[in-house]
Amino acid sequence: MIVGIDIYNSMNQLVIPKNTVLDDEIIRRISTFSLPYLKIPVEEKQTVTEEGYNIVDSLDQADQSLSYYERLKCTRSFQTFKKEFLEDTEEIKNCFNDVVTKHLPVNTNLLLERTKQLAAITQDSNIFDMMHNMRQYDDSTYMHCLNVALLCNVMAKWLNFSEEDTNNLILAGMLHDVGKLMIPDSIIKKPGKLTDEEYDIVKTHPAKGYTILKSQNLPECVKFAALMHHERCDGSGYPLGLENKKIHRFARLVGIADVYDAMTSARVYRDSLSPFTVVEIFQKEGLQKYDPECILIFLERIVDTYVNSKVLLSDGQEGEVIMINKDYLSKPLIQTSYGFIDLSKIDGLTIEKIL
Ligand SMILES: [Fe+2]
Ligand SMILES: [Fe+2]
Repeated sequence: MIVGIDIYNSMNQLVIPKNTVLDDEIIRRISTFSLPYLKIPVEEKQTVTEEGYNIVDSLDQADQSLSYYERLKCTRSFQTFKKEFLEDTEEIKNCFNDVVTKHLPVNTNLLLERTKQLAAITQDSNIFDMMHNMRQYDDSTYMHCLNVALLCNVMAKWLNFSEEDTNNLILAGMLHDVGKLMIPDSIIKKPGKLTDEEYDIVKTHPAKGYTILKSQNLPECVKFAALMHHERCDGSGYPLGLENKKIHRFARLVGIADVYDAMTSARVYRDSLSPFTVVEIFQKEGLQKYDPECILIFLERIVDTYVNSKVLLSDGQEGEVIMINKDYLSKPLIQTSYGFIDLSKIDGLTIEKIL
């Protein structure tokens, strides 16, 4: 449940802000403050999606003739996620503009709280799909930064980060592209291919981001992530062409989340995004570009969430993902009505999409 109004104690101090998710910690706080009751206003419940389908409590209750992503849109948790996500994107926009134009301090509490609250609405297993379903609404730098922050939050969990490191990685992800605010919109939002000159201008955003954050009271790793998130471990990145350990660890991690989000963005894929295709692109591009400790964990965990999912194969057959092949992450074992297919043994047969 989510608290619908700001909660004050008898001294008129804010105890629980609006939109807080009622987790164990908050429930403890309620009993500590001996609040007699919580008023959670009943909002008029939306009953149909924008597309006109009934909103349901779980995926199984959705119209089974719809695709997986369409069914997800029908769930109440996605509808909550969508509402918060759009509000958060606006908040981030205001926050970034305050930093860049008014030179105000970065509101780190707000950025962290928003990211964590949004993540709490999802289960880690479907956060990627929820993010995918948001692509139709916005394609801005702010949304990209929120996506990367959400991905960093998941990565931090997978890497067993401490709370402090988790917070720092979320902030590093959130602020990595703040330098893009200094690049003209005509280039950032250009729909077609950039000219060489325009691309050279885009490539100045890491240094610009670092300049914006340099004088802020932020952990070093957040500043270095802005400067180095386009560096690649094999030295092929920019602006400095640094290699391996010369690139700050947090910048290497943000780099993975950043590329994942760019690959899966609306411009590249539309409805038919398959996480298995993403893994294949990462592998084709060369895994040696990315943090060796993290890239395999990241890709493995992503495909792991699709075990038991129904998929469509490139030859038109439908089947179910049975087992992930650790040596060929994009080619799992599939069960169809005719038997098992080991995709790693059949050249050219791939997973087209999740059904
Ligand atoms: Fe960037
Ligand atoms: Fe980025």
